[in-house]
Amino acid sequence: MLYEGRIRLRRNERRDIPQFVEWLNDPEVRRYLLMNMPISQANEEQWFENMLKLPVNEQPFGIEIHAGLGEGNEWRLIGNCSFMDINWTARSAEVGLFIGDKSCWNKGYGTEVVRLLLRNGFDTLNLNRVFLRVDEANKGGIRAYEKAGFVHEGRLRQAHYRNGKYEDVLFMSALKPEWQE
Ligand SMILES: CC(C)(COP(=O)(O)OP(=O)(O)OC[C@H]1O[C@@H](n2cnc3c(N)ncnc32)[C@H](O)[C@@H]1OP(=O)(O)O)[C@@H](O)C(=O)NCCC(=O)NCCS
Repeated sequence: MLYEGRIRLRRNERRDIPQFVEWLNDPEVRRYLLMNMPISQANEEQWFENMLKLPVNEQPFGIEIHAGLGEGNEWRLIGNCSFMDINWTARSAEVGLFIGDKSCWNKGYGTEVVRLLLRNGFDTLNLNRVFLRVDEANKGGIRAYEKAGFVHEGRLRQAHYRNGKYEDVLFMSALKPEWQE
């Protein structure tokens, strides 16, 4: 497990699949993700099998929060995140995340997830650059990434098409020397 503040990251399990199907079929959750169409249980099972073939450092994590119920040892899945396309020469990787449980939005969890990915990326994987892509309209996401230390780096003009119009996509990144300061 990887721990930070109120969250922990663990590997995905097959039992997570129905929950991901429910979340990723919610138009509000999917709104800023690169998924335009509904998905089925079979689609997600295929995703899971493909995921297991990825290098271990690129396999996603389930995001869990401490539920604080019962015996006090219960953790609840709220979303998913991962490193993608790690380039071991440039020591650079992209990160992505979603919080599917909408009751957990705007409570600081996204910021904590990104902070934890940065700490793990820089101090464990010895990456030098971690970047992400975010729709310009995703104001909550942009704010969370800024709070975690990401800086604005560039803009892909009209890179996405959604709801009948083109949208710009922003690149944001964090560098290890800046993060260490
Ligand atoms: C984007 C996402 C990861 C952010 O996680 P989160 O836990 O909601 O984010 P945080 O609570 O850490 O930070 C959000 C910040 O944005 C602010 N915010 C939210 N909506 C906003 C808006 N429309 N305009 C300006 N600020 C906004 C919040 O107030 C908060 O800032 P504050 O702490 O200074 O008050 C999460 O909402 C999510 O997964 N959404 C659905 C999928 C998605 O968009 N994934 C990301 C793709 S790049």
